[in-house]
Amino acid sequence: MLTLLCCLLANPTAEPDTWSTIAPIVATHCADCHQDTGAAPFPLLCHDDLSRRRRFVAEILRRQLMPPWLPGDGGLPVHDDRSMPEAERTRLISWLEAGAPVGNAAEPPTTITPPEPKALPPGTVTVPLKEPFSIPAETIENEHRHHQDTWTFVMPLENDEPMHVQGVGWSTAAPAAIHTVTLLADDRCRGRNRDDYDPRVGYERDGDLDQDISGSFGALGVGLSRMMLPDGFHWTIPPASDLVVELKYRPVGRELPLRDAVQLVPADPSGSRSVIPVVTGLNRVRLDAGQADYTEEDRFVLPEDFDVVAVLPRGRNECRSMRLTAELPSGEERVLMDIPEWDAHYRRPFVFRNVQSLPAGTTLTSRFTLDNSDANPRNPYDPPEDLRIGRRTGVVCFTLLGAGRSETESQTLMDASKWTMDRRGMKNIPMRTPIPPTPTP
Ligand code: HEC
Repeated sequence: MLTLLCCLLANPTAEPDTWSTIAPIVATHCADCHQDTGAAPFPLLCHDDLSRRRRFVAEILRRQLMPPWLPGDGGLPVHDDRSMPEAERTRLISWLEAGAPVGNAAEPPTTITPPEPKALPPGTVTVPLKEPFSIPAETIENEHRHHQDTWTFVMPLENDEPMHVQGVGWSTAAPAAIHTVTLLADDRCRGRNRDDYDPRVGYERDGDLDQDISGSFGALGVGLSRMMLPDGFHWTIPPASDLVVELKYRPVGRELPLRDAVQLVPADPSGSRSVIPVVTGLNRVRLDAGQADYTEEDRFVLPEDFDVVAVLPRGRNECRSMRLTAELPSGEERVLMDIPEWDAHYRRPFVFRNVQSLPAGTTLTSRFTLDNSDANPRNPYDPPEDLRIGRRTGVVCFTLLGAGRSETESQTLMDASKWTMDRRGMKNIPMRTPIPPTPTP
C-alpha cells in the first residue's frame, strides 16, 4: 500500500511509465553527457541504450552516483544545477525495474536528440593548443597512482592591451578523458619558466604559480564546458599574458591526441568589476594510514566587503565532505556550499544564482572531513598510506571568486587571503582548529 502511495505521489498520472514518458527524464538528466561527444563512456539516447543495461543503471541511480552532482541540499542555489529530483529518480528506477517497457508497440520508440552545444557569443576569441599533446594510454607509473593525472600547458595570448573576459570555455577532442580544466592568467612568464624545464609538451605539475591558485581565472568540469560570470563582473587579463592551463585527465587505455582550445567570451568592462580569488582551506594535511573521520576547519575574516559570484572547491579523494559557511557580522549564518560526498573527478566551479554580498567582518569557515582508511571507497591508495602534503595554495580548499567594492578593496581582500594561506608568519592568527573525531556509538 505504502509503495503504491509512493508511486502515485512520484507519478501523478498513475499510468505506468513507458519509454515515451521516461525519455524526457533521460533527456533532461542524462543525455547531455551520455552522447557520442559527451563526457560519459556510453550513450543513453535510445530505448535499447537503457534497456540492455537496466539493472546496472538502476543500481547506479539507487546509489545516487549519477547524475554526478557534488552540492547537497544545504547550500545556495547555483546555475546549471544538475541535481536530479527524487521523484524523477524513483520513476526512472521503477521503470528500469519493471523491465523498461517500451509502451505502444505500434510506434517505433523515439530516440532522444542530444541538446545542441550552446552557440558562442559574438566576439568570442578561440585560442588553440599550440603544440600537439596526447593523453597517454595509461597513467604515469608510480607517479599519480589511482589519481587523476595532471598536466599543465602554457597558451600565449600575445595581447598588447588588457583583455576583459566574462566567460571561459574549453572544447576538447577527448571529452571522456578530460575531467577538470583550471585556468590562470600569468604576465610574469612563470608558467613558461616551468615549461622550459620540462622537455615534453607542457609540464607535469599542477597549474598553481607560486601563491596563485589555478582556477582563479575560471574552470570547467565534467558536463560544464563554459563558465560565465554574471553581468557586472569580468576577469582582467593583463597585457602580454599567458593562460596557464591545468588539465586533470584520466587515461582511457588508448592514446588520445588533443586538439583542444580555450574560448574567451569578451566582457564590456564599463560599470563592471574585475573578479579576484579569495581562498580558504587547509594548506597542510597530515593523516596516518588508516586514520578515519578526521575533521579540520579553517577560518578567514573578510577585511573588506566582498561580493561573491562563484565557488570552486578543491580536494583530493581522501577528503569525504566539505562545507563552506559565512557568518555575517549581523550574526546571520549562511551555508554557501555544502558537499556531502566529495569526488575529485567531478570538481567544477559553481556560480551562484544570486551574488552573495558579504560585509567586512564576515567569517568564512571551511570545514573538511577526511578519511584515510580503506573504508573510504575513493581512497586513492590501497592499502592506505601515510599522507603528508603541504601546498601554500591549499591542499583542500574553496576558492571564492568575487569583487570588493573598489579595486583597492579587492586588492586588500586578495592580499589578506594569500597571506593567510601562505601562513609563514602565522604566529598571531588563530586559524586552524582540529576537531576531535566523532565518538563511535
Ligand atoms: C555531467 C555529466 C553526466 C550526466 C549528466 C550523467 N552522467 Fe552518467 N556518467 C558520466 C561519466 C563521466 C561517467 C563515467 C564515470 C567513471 O568513469 O567513473 C558516467 C557513467 C555512468 C554509468 C556507469 C557507472 C560506472 O560506474 O561505470 C552509468 C550507469 C550512468 N553514468 C548513468 C547515468 C544516468 C542514468 C544519468 C541520468 C540520470 C547520467 N548517468 C547522467 C557523466 C554523466
